[in-house]
Amino acid sequence: MADSMTQPSRNRASTGDDRPIGQPIDRVDGPLKVAGRATYAYEQTLGGTPAYGYIRGAAIARGRIAAIDTSAAERAPGVLFVMTHRNAPAQTAFGPSVTPTVPEAFTRARPMLANDRVRYYDEPVALVVAETFEAARAAADLIEVRYARESGVFDLHTHLDDAYAPIRTNAGFETDSAVGDFMGAFSRAAVKVDATYRTPYEHHNPMEPHATLAVWSGDEVTIHTSAQTLANYQAGLANTLGMPPERVRIVSPFIGGGFGSKLIVHADTVLAALAARVLARPVKIALTRQQMFANAGYRAEMIQQVRLGADPDGRLIAMGHDVHSATSRFEEFCEQTAVFARSLYAAPNRLTRHRLVGVDLNRGEWMRSPGEAPGMLAFECAMDELAERLGLDPIELRIRNEPSEDPERGVPFSTRNLVDCMREGARRFGWERRNPQPGCIREGRQLIGYGMAAAIRPNYIGATTARVAIDADGQVTAQLDMTDIGTGTYTILTQIAAESLGVPLSAVTVELGDSRFPRTSGSGGSWGAASTGSAIHRACAALKTRILEAARSNESSPLYGMDLAEASFVGGEVLVGERSENLADLIRRIAPEGIDAEGTVASVRETESYAAYSQHSYGAHFAEVAVDCDTGEIRMRRMLAVIGAGRILNAKTARSQILGGMTWGIGAALMEESVLDSRHGHFVNHDLAEYHVPVNGDVQDMQAVFLEEHDDKANPLGAKGLGELGVCGAGAAIANAVYNATGVRVREFPVTLDKLL
Ligand code: MOS
Repeated sequence: MADSMTQPSRNRASTGDDRPIGQPIDRVDGPLKVAGRATYAYEQTLGGTPAYGYIRGAAIARGRIAAIDTSAAERAPGVLFVMTHRNAPAQTAFGPSVTPTVPEAFTRARPMLANDRVRYYDEPVALVVAETFEAARAAADLIEVRYARESGVFDLHTHLDDAYAPIRTNAGFETDSAVGDFMGAFSRAAVKVDATYRTPYEHHNPMEPHATLAVWSGDEVTIHTSAQTLANYQAGLANTLGMPPERVRIVSPFIGGGFGSKLIVHADTVLAALAARVLARPVKIALTRQQMFANAGYRAEMIQQVRLGADPDGRLIAMGHDVHSATSRFEEFCEQTAVFARSLYAAPNRLTRHRLVGVDLNRGEWMRSPGEAPGMLAFECAMDELAERLGLDPIELRIRNEPSEDPERGVPFSTRNLVDCMREGARRFGWERRNPQPGCIREGRQLIGYGMAAAIRPNYIGATTARVAIDADGQVTAQLDMTDIGTGTYTILTQIAAESLGVPLSAVTVELGDSRFPRTSGSGGSWGAASTGSAIHRACAALKTRILEAARSNESSPLYGMDLAEASFVGGEVLVGERSENLADLIRRIAPEGIDAEGTVASVRETESYAAYSQHSYGAHFAEVAVDCDTGEIRMRRMLAVIGAGRILNAKTARSQILGGMTWGIGAALMEESVLDSRHGHFVNHDLAEYHVPVNGDVQDMQAVFLEEHDDKANPLGAKGLGELGVCGAGAAIANAVYNATGVRVREFPVTLDKLL
């Protein structure tokens, strides 16, 4: 029962059900989803006929509610209740406006309608609850609000003098790092790049907006919602309502995407819980797509200065990454934008810094690949600029700066196959056809360009427990409060349990999304598969130990008294030497009531291997674009990612994750931008008509290839996080391809056609 699993299975002769880990198994929840039988939060009908809430948002970004008249709304047809700061139930105060610690950020009280202050545009100022959604929405328009408006700060660029250093970045990293003498070395460098990039505000826009159905039963509330991490929602809501967490149950079996916007409670959850209690009736509230732009987090605007100094051979002697980011004035959030640069390339003199400028917006939140997504967009373009100045191929430049150990921590890498990813990608993509001279390849009206970028992302594990049970029919049930946000969690956990216990996939049921199940780290930070997979793996190992101990000590068992050290579970049988026993028969004999066990993994930061090794996943992105030489329209032609993320648990869902990330790369490079009106603090393009995200027609030929390895330093499975890796560097590869096509270097994202003309 060693705590490590067999090597990747796809090269084995057996392709049967007995070695399912790694196989491209179809999603086990797929049939439910395509048949419309997967019930999402707003579709739930539990607890009786619900009432419907509609949120009225503030029309100013900063100030006070001077007067609010709800009388017309209260008289409107179907209206049951109107809540404002004047009659909202007591909640825990928001707390000091200084940075909470990183764990507190996930779980702190987030009261709604708590007082007459307005802190950001579209902050809830009233909730109308009615018999129907339409009645609630119509009545919300009848509320008259008079504001005492105060001036706010909304523009990062004009307030850079007010920038300050936070204590820590997101994920608890140091704000600054310095090695050697960056300024001295940079000034002496023979070849330099000093480039400043701007990345805009962006919004997550999962397909399923935030939505909650709250149902009270006595002193306990059940929250059906769309969440990534149930433990955060449970603690956050309990703290807000001032009640013990065990009386808050969060249920979230199906989620239509999150991308980081569903890690903490938002207005829909808090207001539904408050209103349902007042009315003693279930209440449903969804944020509209427009409301999500102010009330469900965003990625902040940033200004990044990248300074690279190299010797004439292309060896970096100085590397600097300085980030200025906007942040909410009432709750700070500092993306770890320059942190990846501390581990990516060798350079003896190094400097990375994060600075914040407070603005009157809602809190920024974690958005897919926080830090690396905007950071690599800038840094990997700067590397492209340096390669051109050196007259070096961009891949060769990166190979010349491949470090032998983590350049700032001075510890070895667990595994690192970045160079292999770049070489394999170059071969597959036909990189040798790239002309290093920009603007030279033309097909009719199209200018063709190739670009590449590296990808790196830290590997995390979050504290996680899983429970696995087997019954007398040999049916296995795994339970944990993990979520499947579309990533494939149900499927990979089914595969891991089936392989660990040697039972067919059809014998395993994975139950997720209920806070009554053992606590996990949830879906976020690309830690979900490795954390929950490892916990399931350990739970199965513990279950096998319990089964064998019972079998050995049970006189009616054919395995009674045998030495079971070499026992294995394969094909629904327990094998011991020449003898085998059907697993279900064995359970019937030794534990007719069934038998269960738990398995746990600790947070990566509590492990020795985290201190001893630099753990990341890697990749190389390649892009080919065509740019219309008259209109500047940019079309993706091909994208390729070669990914090194340890062992792959399901070749199909892993590929889907990477393709999704690469699609985000297209959005970041070419389309996505939330435009903040700096007079009013309002995101003006707050819908999917004006906030552009890539659609199928924008994607074209997209390939993902995995260079598998087994990272035994990372966790018992040897798998590393990959969901967000697909984003990292993908946008930079595209921007570099646009430069290669046109000779125009756009440093203000997104790269839209007007900037090329
Ligand atoms: Mo991800 S931004 O940690 O959900």
